[in-house]
Amino acid sequence: MECTAMEHYKIEKEKNRLWLTENSYAPLYELKTESIFAQCNGYMGVRAVHPFLSVEESRGMFLCGVFDKAYENEVTELVNCPDITWFGIEIDAEKIHTDSTKLHSCTRKIDILSGELRLFYVFELSTGTLVEIEVKRFASLDNKHLFMQSYRVHICNGIGKNIKITTGINGQITNSGVSHFHSVTERVYDREVMESRGELEENIVTVLTACTIKTGTVAKKDFTLKRRSIYGIYSFTEENDIEIEKAAYIYQGGETEDCRARRYMDCFKNTGYQKQFCMHRKQMQNFWRKAGIGIEGNGLEQQAAISFSQYHMLGMTPPDRAECSIAAKGLTGEGYKGHVFWDTEIFILPFLIYTYPEKARQLLMFRYLGLEKARQKAKEYGYQGAMFPWEAAKTGEEETPKYAALNIHTGKANRVWSGIKEYHVTADVIYAVEQYFTVTGDREFMEQCGYEMIFEAAKFWVSCAKWDETEHRYCIYDVIGPDEYTEHINNNAYTNYMAEFCVKTACRYARQLKEGGHKECSRLEQRTGFLEYLEKFEEFLSKIYLPKPGRNGIIPQDDTFLSKPCLQEIEKYKSSQVKQAVLLDYSRDEIVNMQVLKQADVIMLFDLFPRLFPDDIVRKNILFYEKRTLHDSSLSYCVHAQASAYTGDKKAADRFFKKALFIDLNDNPYDSADGIHSASMGGIWNCLIFGFAGVRFTGTEVWIRPCLPENWKEISFFLTLCKIEIQFAVSEKRIVMEATKELKEPLYVCVEDKRYTFVRSLELYRDTGETKEWKKKSEDVSLT
Ligand code: BGC
Repeated sequence: MECTAMEHYKIEKEKNRLWLTENSYAPLYELKTESIFAQCNGYMGVRAVHPFLSVEESRGMFLCGVFDKAYENEVTELVNCPDITWFGIEIDAEKIHTDSTKLHSCTRKIDILSGELRLFYVFELSTGTLVEIEVKRFASLDNKHLFMQSYRVHICNGIGKNIKITTGINGQITNSGVSHFHSVTERVYDREVMESRGELEENIVTVLTACTIKTGTVAKKDFTLKRRSIYGIYSFTEENDIEIEKAAYIYQGGETEDCRARRYMDCFKNTGYQKQFCMHRKQMQNFWRKAGIGIEGNGLEQQAAISFSQYHMLGMTPPDRAECSIAAKGLTGEGYKGHVFWDTEIFILPFLIYTYPEKARQLLMFRYLGLEKARQKAKEYGYQGAMFPWEAAKTGEEETPKYAALNIHTGKANRVWSGIKEYHVTADVIYAVEQYFTVTGDREFMEQCGYEMIFEAAKFWVSCAKWDETEHRYCIYDVIGPDEYTEHINNNAYTNYMAEFCVKTACRYARQLKEGGHKECSRLEQRTGFLEYLEKFEEFLSKIYLPKPGRNGIIPQDDTFLSKPCLQEIEKYKSSQVKQAVLLDYSRDEIVNMQVLKQADVIMLFDLFPRLFPDDIVRKNILFYEKRTLHDSSLSYCVHAQASAYTGDKKAADRFFKKALFIDLNDNPYDSADGIHSASMGGIWNCLIFGFAGVRFTGTEVWIRPCLPENWKEISFFLTLCKIEIQFAVSEKRIVMEATKELKEPLYVCVEDKRYTFVRSLELYRDTGETKEWKKKSEDVSLT
C-alpha cells in the first residue's frame, strides 16, 4: 500500500468550487472512482456510477441503518438499495453505452465543497453524429431524503429524429448477487411519480422519483414495469437539446410517510435542481464554516485532500438517529458489509466530539442501545459485564463473519477470530465516552448512559483477567490486539493499557458517585452492581500487568512478539499495490509466528495517551515497529503520523501523513473499490489537530505543542470546548485562541512549561531571541 502519488485524479480550483477530477474513461479505476466520488449526506450514499451501464461498474445506494440478513448462514449487511442513477438514451435506434459507443471524451468530477457530481461525455454514433451528455447529481443536506439529478443531451451536428430517454428505479440491484428484498412493488401516480417499495425482513425502503422536462418537447411518455423495476420512457422527435431533471425521494418505513413523500414530490416540481442545490449548498457552507481546516503553505493538492476527507466525514455521519453508527466504508460501498468497528470511536469520533458534540453523543447512544446485547455476549463467553461487538450492524449484536479469505495451504477459508478475540473494542468505546465527557462536560449523558457503559465494560475486564501465580500479576490471555496479523497472544500491550484505562475510569467514577451520594447511585447500583465491584476494580488496578519498555526502550507488543523471527523481504510487501499481499505467500498461521504487523499497535498508545511515555521511548518504538509494519490496514499511517509529529519528527510525520492523506486518492486502482476508508479520514483530522497543531484538552487545560511539516506556515480551525467554539491559529511561532464568547470558567493553556489563563482570547508568540521562549503578546507590549 505504498502508493501516494495522485496522477489519475486532478484537482482544479474554480470560484467557490474545488473539483476532484477524472479526465478519462478508465475501467481499471471504475470501482475506486465510484466510491470516492460518491454523493453522501449521512442518510444515503450513492456511488458515482456512470449513468449508462458499464462493464466494470458496481452500482450502489446505501441508507444509514438499513441492514438485513438474507439467509441464515449469511451475515447481516448494509442493503444495496434500488438504483436511481441509470439513464438510457437511444438516438435514431442506436443505444448509447459507455463501453461500446465511440467515446471522444469523458470527465467525471466532484466538487469537494458541495459534493455535487458532474459527468460529461462526448459520444460519436455510427452515423457520425456527435452527442454531448452532461449529468449533475447531489444528495441534499437540506432534506436528507432527497437525491437530485439533472441530465442534458445535446446533439452537436444535427438533429435526433427519434430520441428515447429511459430512467426510473431499478430494484434488481443486489449485494454482490444476494437480493435482500422479499418483494418489490411498483406503481405510478398521476402518470408522473414512479414508486418502488421494497420489503425487507424488518424494514421497507420506498423510492419515489419523477422527471421534469426542462428543454425539449415530449412527444410521448410511457411507463413500463420490468421485474423489480419501473421506468418512464420519454420520447422526443426532431430535437437537438434536451434537459431533464430527476428528483428522488427515498425513505424507510411504512404508510405514514407516504403522503408526506408524495407531497414533497409535488413541491419539487415547483423548485427544481438549481433551487434545491442552493438550499443544499447553504448547509454545506455552514459545515465548512464550522469544520473547515485552513493551512497556509501546504499547496492546493494537500488542502483539497484534507477537505475531501472532511466531505466524507460529513457524508458518513448519520443525521439524527441513534440506531445507526458509522460504517468502516461509510455509505460508499459494500466493503465490510457496512459494519461498524472501533474505527468509529477511536478514529472518527474525536472530530465529532470537538466539532459536532451532539453527533458524537448520538453515536455513543448507539453503543448504549447495544449494551444489552453486549451483556449477552459477555455472558456467552463466560464473562461478566459487557463485551461490545467487534463488528456491529444495527442491534449491537456481534456480526463478525466466521470465515473469510483463503488459507493458501489448506485451500479453505480462514477462521476469523476477531469477533471473539479482539477484546480491545470494549475499552475503545469507553475511551470515546470518557473523551466525550472530558470535552463537553455532558453530565446528563453520563448519568443516563455513560456510567453504566463504563461500569459494565470494567466488569468485563476484571472478569477476563487471569491471575499469574508466578509473576503475581493479572494478565489478559489469548487476545488479538489492533495488529490483526498477530493472533492468540497474551498481554497485548495495547489491550492491557486500554483495559487499565477502562477500569481506572470506572473506579474513579464509582468512588465519586459513592462519596457524593449521587442521586443516580442506587439506580446505577441496581443496573450494574458497581459498588460491589469497587474492590475488585481496585485490586485489578493494583496488579494488572502493563508491559514496560525493556532495556532497549522497546515496549513488547505481547509476551512472545520480540522472540519471533522477522519477516524476510518485508520491503517487497510494503511496496506492493496488492492489498495484504503477504497473505498470498504465507498463511495466517505462519504470519502469526513472525515479527510482522498489519497496522499500528503499540504506537496507538502514544496517540491515545500522549504523556504516558517519555519522548525518547516513543521515538524508539516508532522506529522499531515501523520497520516491521506493512501498513496493510488504512488505520496505520495516520497513527504513525500523529505519533511522529508528537515527538517532533517532522520528516517522518509528513511522510506518514501524506500516505494517510492519499489513501483514497492515490493511484492504486484497487484501493477503495468497495468503499472509502472512513477511519483514515478521521485519522487525518486527529493527526492535524492532535499531531501537527499538537492541541490536547484535559477538561481544564489545553496543551499545545505544535510541530508543523516544513513549508506549513500556520494551521487554523475551530474546536468546541465545554460547549464554546474557540478558533485556533497555530504555528511554531505563534498561537492564537479566540472564543466566540467568554468562558464561564477560565481554561488553562499550557505551552512548554508555562501556563496561561484563557477566558476569551489569547495570543502567544515565540521569542526570536536566544531563549526561543513562548511569550504572551500583551507581555511583549508592556515590555516595549
Ligand atoms: C483493520 C481493523 C479495522 C477494520 C475496519 C481491518 O483491516 O485491521 O483494525 O477496524 O479493517 O476498518
